[in-house]
Amino acid sequence: MKAAVYTRYGSPEVLRIKQVTKPVPKDNEILLRIKASAVNSGDVRLRKADPFAVRFIFGLLKPKVNILGSVFSGEVESAGKGVRQFKAGDSVFGHTDMRFGAYAEYICLPEDGSVTFKPANISHNEAAAIPFGGVTALHFIKKAMITPNQKVLIVGASGAVGSAAVQLAKSYGAIVTAVCSTSNIDLVKSIGADKVIDYTKEYFNETGEKYDVIFDTVNTISVSRSLKSLAKNGKMILSAAGMLEMMQGLWISITGRWKVITGVISHAAADIVFLKNLIEAGKFKAVIDRTYPVEQIAEAHGYAEKGHKKGNIVITM
Ligand SMILES: NC(=O)c1ccc[n+]([C@@H]2O[C@H](COP(=O)([O-])OP(=O)(O)OC[C@H]3O[C@@H](n4cnc5c(N)ncnc54)[C@H](OP(=O)(O)O)[C@@H]3O)[C@@H](O)[C@H]2O)c1
Repeated sequence: MKAAVYTRYGSPEVLRIKQVTKPVPKDNEILLRIKASAVNSGDVRLRKADPFAVRFIFGLLKPKVNILGSVFSGEVESAGKGVRQFKAGDSVFGHTDMRFGAYAEYICLPEDGSVTFKPANISHNEAAAIPFGGVTALHFIKKAMITPNQKVLIVGASGAVGSAAVQLAKSYGAIVTAVCSTSNIDLVKSIGADKVIDYTKEYFNETGEKYDVIFDTVNTISVSRSLKSLAKNGKMILSAAGMLEMMQGLWISITGRWKVITGVISHAAADIVFLKNLIEAGKFKAVIDRTYPVEQIAEAHGYAEKGHKKGNIVITM
């Protein structure tokens, strides 16, 4: 089968299209013919081994996982004899979690992984743009226990995680202020933001406004400066926190008037099913910036790593 393979960490050009062996499903797995995947910040980090700690999990000198791509939408080609939920011909979408391997024509996945039926009202391209940002934002928003009419600020509101966070916070009834650059103002309004702060014109922490929840998806402003805008007993989500911010967050939560939520998420079936239901109810939609065929995977990675994509970059197989 065709796949985008990388055998060393580095620039987008390390990704090469090759023929590799088609996988065979185990008893508890489905064999999926992938129609679409996406380039997410997680793929870029793994390709570059950034941060360095990536190497401790995925290979010190060279990657142990040679096919990137963590999200997928496609059709079940066959199912192992123990599989109950899915059958050949079903359209499904989801996330591979730490396995990766979705930049390929086929992938085998356990049926109890982060996979569910694709909503009938969206395409495979749209479905592939949902799980990365969607599940990340959902994980953190659930932890913050957002309630109706709370004031929520989302920094990096036009990215994959941010655009999902805006929509999810709205679905929980929050009053959402989105922080983005000038060219993304219309986008964030179109997905539900009640107010917008253009970070090229003013910093959110200089407006005097206080928020019940600040969801910082990009980590471009220091924690201490952001705290100026957090209401008493407010919660701060730092989904892009490095080790320093995680330690700061822990200290603030222990000693301060605020709760700081950080950490690395994992993907479970319940979250992807939750998003599916939201999509079918018309309350959540894919935000797609560009679509590339897998043959242009290096160009797609080059664009994504500039850090200014609008939502998601879809890869068609
Ligand atoms: N904790 C976890 O488990 C977890 C899971 C997934 C992702 N992440 C992390 O989350 C981060 C974001 O991921 P992503 O996929 O959403 O990234 P992304 O799609 O590349 O989006 C980045 C966004 O940041 C915005 N941005 C850049 N500079 C900004 C600034 N100064 N102020 C406000 N917005 C700014 C950009 O918008 P403009 O074009 O308007 O600048 C862009 O839309 C990454 O660091 C990723 O590693 C963590």
